Amino acid sequence: MDNIVLIGFMGSGKTSVAKKLAEVSAYKLVDTDKLIEEKENKKISDIFSDNDEKYFRDIESQVLLKLQSNFNLVISTGGGIVLREANRDVLKKLGKVVYLRVTPETVVKRLQHDTSRPLLMGDDKHQKVKEIMDYREPIYQDAADIIIDTDNLSKKEIAEKILSAKAPITGE
Ligand code: S3P
Repeated sequence: MDNIVLIGFMGSGKTSVAKKLAEVSAYKLVDTDKLIEEKENKKISDIFSDNDEKYFRDIESQVLLKLQSNFNLVISTGGGIVLREANRDVLKKLGKVVYLRVTPETVVKRLQHDTSRPLLMGDDKHQKVKEIMDYREPIYQDAADIIIDTDNLSKKEIAEKILSAKAPITGE
């Protein structure tokens, strides 16, 4: 069994869908943000405030590379992992890449009071989300084998779609 790789914006539900998938299948859960925190022994927000974004991205690439030659994993990734082309290549090799697409409105609603995403800190969260999402949308699409629009789906429904998907599905 190949791995399942979940990509998508902050707040798109990658972590909770990955947990659900691990619960209902034989896939074992791995979360790249968790691996980064373990490696650095720090929270993501502290890694960002003690260093620059490049430092974080370098560790992110390193932990991703280490996942190669593993099987039967459901891999929940950080929202920016797709930014580096080299990472996108590794993701493709790891298994089926599933893009959990979400609207900016849903992200803002979910992350309104969140303080753990350094890239979204600031006064106008909606504007920040919109800006970053507009930039990333084509990159997520390019990296994905499967795209699922998740706004109106439960995590159980999303997990079921992923497990039954054999061909690309878009906008369902
Ligand atoms: C990031 C997303 C975060 C985390 C870091 C950067 C991003 O993960 O990796 O704050 O650039 O989108 P989540 O997508 O799990 O929030």
